[in-house]
Amino acid sequence: MDSTPLRPLKASRPAAALHGEITVPGDKSISHRALMFGALAVGETRITGLLEGEDVLRTAAAMRALGARVERRGAEWLVAGPGIGGLTSPDDVLDMGNSGTAARLLCGILASHDIFSVMTGDASLRKRPMQRVITPLRACGARFTARTGDRLPLAIQGARDALPLSYRLPVASAQVKSAVLLAGLNARGLTEVEEPEPTRDHSENMLRHFGATVTVSQHGSARHIQLVGQPELRAADIAVPGDPSSAAFPLVAALLVPDSRITLKAIGLNPLRTGLFATLREMGAALTIQNPRVQGGESIGDLRVEYTALSAVDVPPGRAPSMIDEYPILAVACAAARGTSRLRGLAELRVKESDRFTATAAMLAAAGARVEAEGDDLIIHGMPEIPGGGSVTTQMDHRLAMSALVLGQITAAPMTIDDSTFIETSFPDFTKLMRGLGAAMSPL
Ligand code: S3P
Repeated sequence: MDSTPLRPLKASRPAAALHGEITVPGDKSISHRALMFGALAVGETRITGLLEGEDVLRTAAAMRALGARVERRGAEWLVAGPGIGGLTSPDDVLDMGNSGTAARLLCGILASHDIFSVMTGDASLRKRPMQRVITPLRACGARFTARTGDRLPLAIQGARDALPLSYRLPVASAQVKSAVLLAGLNARGLTEVEEPEPTRDHSENMLRHFGATVTVSQHGSARHIQLVGQPELRAADIAVPGDPSSAAFPLVAALLVPDSRITLKAIGLNPLRTGLFATLREMGAALTIQNPRVQGGESIGDLRVEYTALSAVDVPPGRAPSMIDEYPILAVACAAARGTSRLRGLAELRVKESDRFTATAAMLAAAGARVEAEGDDLIIHGMPEIPGGGSVTTQMDHRLAMSALVLGQITAAPMTIDDSTFIETSFPDFTKLMRGLGAAMSPL
């Protein structure tokens, strides 16, 4: 999407409150993993609710290029893999587009397959650090040659006889944890990962769902994960829940636009993903979960949310892994809350699709909201009325684009964004769905 023309949008206060019942697209993290694990399993995996966003389609294309059959049939996606150890050399460069998750998880798979591949991505992904996966994966015997600063493009020669890894994560990252576990699938023996703080555990859940032996033990706030190598993964059906990170946008919009009331159906409620919901409740949000249930090893439920006059919040750094993608939209909620909020320990935001730490502050400042950065903390002074009238540069970052469009629903004057193209990576039909609820967003 590097060379497509920009698609600017304007967001303004809607004429009436937001109302309705919607389903948001499938969970991005689970969708990537469903395609990858399906390709590593024996038999045909059937996936419903797969996110058909640009990021996940890149993973589908990469798994095809590595020898898997990946196809859409009706509402289902079918994946028939060559199985662990059976991947073949792609005959062209693997282009992972905007997706850090696709790139880093795939590095794990490629590291323990005796094949050569070259990986690249768009201008945003080519800026993001790959050293965090290259360092642990080299220890299994794989060779990586990267551009200066360990950036993509990256050439990978996977190990012939991969060694199992034992790695303690220096940063809380589910992508790094998953890359190590994926490499361990084709290594003889026990692969071990220790994470300082728990991060989303979709890989562990799905590996078990496909028949692998994964054990997890908790030591204080740290978690120790063990995977028995070279399991026979068996194809399994997967129903992908609605993405809580996508639900966050309509949810916050409904909290902020007076008199709104909406329901978001079948949203994933994995406790390692729900930090935003806990934080919004601390701010006083009228947010309830209905019909809690378990689907394919993951908790889901319907979220019902009503407009609430929110209060400021102090978010501890330890909560970051459970809401790492939600800070831009939380910052929007804080800008409208009564009092001063402090969002602590956000260093990891600097290496997302954009430098989200700086970009989130710039977005609020563009609207005339009051925000300060102090070390790795963001301090936001809530205002009863945010002036708006500004323009946000979205820097190829889907979550920044959607956050700015939600912000424009409550500012006195409309907000504009320079480009909405990248919303497609995670939330196809975002503007259509939001307009259906009553939000005001239109092309410039
Ligand atoms: C993801 C992990 C997180 C998150 C990303 C998806 C995953 O990244 O930001 O959107 O699916 O494992 P980090 O591992 O870099 O924290």
